[in-house]
Amino acid sequence: MRVAMIGTGYVGLVSGACFADFGHQVTCIDKDASKIDALNAGSIPIYEPGLQELVAKNVAEQRLSFTTDPQDAIRQADAVFIAVGTPTRRGDGHADLSYVYAAAEEIAGLIEGFTVVVTKSTVPVGTGDEVEAIIARTNPDAQFAVVSNPEFLREGAAINDFKRPDRVVVGTEDDRAVSVMRELYRPLYLNETPIIVTRRRTSELIKYAANAFLAVKITFINEIADLCEKVGANVQEVSRGIGLDNRIGSKFLHAGPGYGGSCFPKDTLALSKIGHDAGATLKIVDSVIEVNAERKKKMADKVIAAMGGSVKGKTIALLGLAFKPNTDDMREAPAIDIVAKLKEAGANLRAYDPASMHEASKIMPDLMFCDGPYHAIENADAVVIITEWDQFRALDLDRVKSLVKAPKVIDLRNIYKPDYMSERGFDYVSVGRAY
Ligand code: UDX
Repeated sequence: MRVAMIGTGYVGLVSGACFADFGHQVTCIDKDASKIDALNAGSIPIYEPGLQELVAKNVAEQRLSFTTDPQDAIRQADAVFIAVGTPTRRGDGHADLSYVYAAAEEIAGLIEGFTVVVTKSTVPVGTGDEVEAIIARTNPDAQFAVVSNPEFLREGAAINDFKRPDRVVVGTEDDRAVSVMRELYRPLYLNETPIIVTRRRTSELIKYAANAFLAVKITFINEIADLCEKVGANVQEVSRGIGLDNRIGSKFLHAGPGYGGSCFPKDTLALSKIGHDAGATLKIVDSVIEVNAERKKKMADKVIAAMGGSVKGKTIALLGLAFKPNTDDMREAPAIDIVAKLKEAGANLRAYDPASMHEASKIMPDLMFCDGPYHAIENADAVVIITEWDQFRALDLDRVKSLVKAPKVIDLRNIYKPDYMSERGFDYVSVGRAY
């Protein structure tokens, strides 16, 4: 099949490369010429394990190409994917759909023959209807069907998530479109991945409901973690104890500093607005948004409390800044709130992250960035682990002890065990573990 992918952001690039790897002919289109030039020169603008190799392989085998010119690719395409950004609109929290609608107009003028137009971006319920209306209005002769096909991939595990998903969701009432979508995902179908076909609006809602549910799970266990600290319990054991119940499931029950990233904060906010507009207030989602935002701020208070109530003039090493490991993404990262508050409280901060320091320096230009974890902890009064990168799990603790001023570790990701740390002479504070 011939695929045109509009937007070479995270989802577009990963989906384009993976569809090419499935054997389809894929053209990725972006208006940003510098991005396309870089991609054509083999440079990948995002940090994603395995993506560089996957792109290089499919470009070499001539199934994948990049261009700023949409004409030929869209004209020839069996399926045109809209994978442009849907940021939170300033002021009202709604998803900004201007890029989606601009893409729809562009597509309308170019498609030839029956074409499936697929929204892969996360879009509010009803966006597919609007995309359909725009195309029909712009080009009344166009033969097309608009499909919702949300993407559930996680940063850092994107290729695996795309190629081995738990399910594929296809939202359309058009049988021809279903056939095209099945053909596109045929390698997965052969692997017996369930393909759920629903009406378009339902599919659009599935994506928001999935992300919001995961955000609820995380926020719930974070609240239980706070309770554990107060009543002498251990949240990891609670997670295991509840997670083995299949109805609950063991994933997304790691207590930590609150969720961040490009999806959960944006999508929970957008879902709340969708509910509000539809006259169905989503109280749970609203609470999750509020509790998580508070939690990110409260993490700095936790550090301050662990240091006896003041960090003024104290040197604090921050290990990890990205919103999670294996990404350079700093969007909505808890580190941003933690840094702001600790700075305000007068701490001297020394930070290290294996991948996100470049991104972090754009948001926090005054932060001191170090060459490695051991450089960051030199003479520190406390070490705060913010992101659970593997290399922080494997620190040489004797070396850590010899470099810091005081052996205090505040582990916001629970990557060490309290016993283990105290046996090694550390004053250790973690999340939700009274023992
Ligand atoms: C998420 C969804 O998982 C994915 O399906 C969707 O397509 C996009 O949004 P992503 O944002 O890449 O993916 O990251 P994810 O791994 O889900 O983590 C999100 C945040 O939740 C991170 O800040 C992470 O640290 C936090 N988290 C996750 C927890 O605090 N505890 C957990 O148990 C799991």
